[in-house]
Amino acid sequence: MSSAAPATAPRVALVTGAASGIGLAIATQFVRDGITTVMLDRSAEVQRVADELEGRTHAIVCDVADEAQIRAAVAEVDQRHGRCDILVNNAGIHPKRDGGKFTIEQIPSAQWRDVLAINLTAPFLFCQLVMPLMRRHRWGRVINISSRGGRTVSPVASAHYAATKAGLIGFTRIAALEGAPDGITANSVTPGPILSAMTAGSSPEVRAAFTRSVPLGRYGDPEEIASAVSYLASDASSFITGAIFDINGGTYMP
Ligand SMILES: NC(=O)c1ccc[n+]([C@@H]2O[C@H](COP(=O)([O-])OP(=O)(O)OC[C@H]3O[C@@H](n4cnc5c(N)ncnc54)[C@H](O)[C@@H]3O)[C@@H](O)[C@H]2O)c1
Repeated sequence: MSSAAPATAPRVALVTGAASGIGLAIATQFVRDGITTVMLDRSAEVQRVADELEGRTHAIVCDVADEAQIRAAVAEVDQRHGRCDILVNNAGIHPKRDGGKFTIEQIPSAQWRDVLAINLTAPFLFCQLVMPLMRRHRWGRVINISSRGGRTVSPVASAHYAATKAGLIGFTRIAALEGAPDGITANSVTPGPILSAMTAGSSPEVRAAFTRSVPLGRYGDPEEIASAVSYLASDASSFITGAIFDINGGTYMP
């Protein structure tokens, strides 16, 4: 192996919710892209899956519902790598009731607060802490994983989930505006039905009905989100900011 240092330090990405599903697929793609990838999750599984990837990975166990843990995680990234160029706010929850949605009248207020904390407040806190690291190098990529349920009405989305995912799109537009002077772009990705632990929680009836509603006739794979995120994280996407990437098999065509 050559001891010569690369001309520029490899980029560092932070992916939340990276132990499974879409987050794991994104982290896997980043590692393939040669990016040093910090994989963060509340599940201790994140260490095992990071160890299995062949490349530069760094696992952090962190519950993004806890501001103190987020602050400690970002401090650890800065201390270990001295930079963070790419932030993917992917960790999210969508509580199910008997495999289906909660109506507004059924949502316990504690659950409402949990969904807000994980799906919306955490991306705000990560941006607040990581955007200053991006400004140091006058380059950055914020990619927020929203949902088709934040774009339009969805029979399977509960109100707290839809509210946070729509809110994340509005938040991302402001991040795009505020990051632009320092070369930081911010974009939303809005997946439709993707095979993961989250959708495995749906009942077979809900999944069958949903599949029928997809023009491409199937659920997507996490890798089909990761390929778009890889592009958004690259230099090739330099003029794209404040945009929404609908990746949903044709279920929503505005
Ligand atoms: N699967 C879909 O059909 C779909 C559709 C639209 C949007 N999304 C969004 O994509 C993102 C990823 O979802 P997925 O389908 O891969 O789900 P998933 O359940 O497979 O993965 C979510 C990951 O986030 C982690 N996580 C959850 N709460 C956390 C917390 N408090 N702190 C740290 N980590 C936490 C989980 O441990 C898990 O590893 C979510 O934001 C979800 O809303 C998914």
